[in-house]
Amino acid sequence: MTPYSDVVMGARELLESNWREGRTPSGLVFGYTCPDAVKYPDQFFWDSCFHALTWSRLDPARAMRELRSLGAAQQPSGMIGHTTFWRGPVRPSRAYTYNLLHRRAFQTATIQPPLLGWVWAEVAERSGDASFADEGRMIVRRFHEFLDRERADADGLIGILQPDETGLDATPTYDQPLGWRSHPKAGFLALQAFNRRRGYDYRRVVADGGFHATDVLVNTAWILGWEGLARLGEPGAAAGAEQRTSALVRRLFDRPAGMFFAEGPAGERLRVSTWAGLSPLALDRLPADIAHRIVNEHLLDSRCFWLEYPVPSTAAWEPSFVPGSVRYLWIERYWRGSTWLFSTWFALRGLLRLGYEAESAHLAERTLALIRRSGFREYFNPITGEGMGARHFGVSTIAVECAAMAEHRPDVRESVA
Ligand code: GLC
Repeated sequence: MTPYSDVVMGARELLESNWREGRTPSGLVFGYTCPDAVKYPDQFFWDSCFHALTWSRLDPARAMRELRSLGAAQQPSGMIGHTTFWRGPVRPSRAYTYNLLHRRAFQTATIQPPLLGWVWAEVAERSGDASFADEGRMIVRRFHEFLDRERADADGLIGILQPDETGLDATPTYDQPLGWRSHPKAGFLALQAFNRRRGYDYRRVVADGGFHATDVLVNTAWILGWEGLARLGEPGAAAGAEQRTSALVRRLFDRPAGMFFAEGPAGERLRVSTWAGLSPLALDRLPADIAHRIVNEHLLDSRCFWLEYPVPSTAAWEPSFVPGSVRYLWIERYWRGSTWLFSTWFALRGLLRLGYEAESAHLAERTLALIRRSGFREYFNPITGEGMGARHFGVSTIAVECAAMAEHRPDVRESVA
């Protein structure tokens, strides 16, 4: 038994009840965990990556099915979009706010942080199934070719069209360049309409003077994807990860601040301190001096990110920081201070890689405490631990993966046997 079998059991129950499977009229087989049955019934790209990581601790076959569904959702272009609607068209209430080319679209026309390669490699290794690794190598290679062709600059870093492509929908990072068009203000609909008219085609949007940016988290996930593709056996992928890590440092690391910041549409540095700026800690090839600066000057600073329940999505001293719920009219504005467990995984991976054992154990312990206090909520107040948003949120089960990582434990299945 692990000292957190209660959380392991809760996670399994949640993932089971959020599981959806079937076959489309055209014969595609799917099986995925929806982020929340009420709020998010569809398959979300980066949520699925995290679900697969938790599943791989509990039931590797299920992790494989979750990833195979992302593979089955891949379009002939190689794209795998932000959200896939396996069970019929999007709900009418979302038809105008999701990034769709038309109301009955099978998938959104936007992306989310491209972590797939990394997660596929991890699941393949844990399952010990070599043919699964081969299957993933093809899918991830085509996905990377798509991103390289459609989104990459000459240095290999990729751009985004909208802040929700970062997974951090209303992040304050883009408040300044977006202004009245920031999520979810009314102008955001104008931004979407501009992009929709251009088929959400990044090159066209850039050519026509639309909003675009080079985001830290998206590029961190992109480089992790290359690291994963290398582990899946793709020739040249390790060099691809290396080259893009150097580009990330060159272009987005701010030496005076000791932090990564996004680049805005005019090539300007957007100096807002959010957890995305910490996320490169998860990269195997990040130079150690940079990584230690981020940890010591930002992550472990109790005025910044090391709050009662780390890691808040925005640094506590930022003027935009709001620990509780924040709304524009009746709509939630996400990622402006609350803790989401997506971030915990990135930070923990960095701390462990760099040998911060006590801090890793602390982060895993605070995360378990959060779940025990408030349940698997969507996001949390980083000071009080109060839970907010969806009530049965799949990604919050990553607490299990984080606890097992901090203990260097290969498997937690025995604790639920
Ligand atoms: C919210 C989050 C996004 C997530 C989605 C589904 O929109 O901001 O990151 O993928 O919910 O959980």
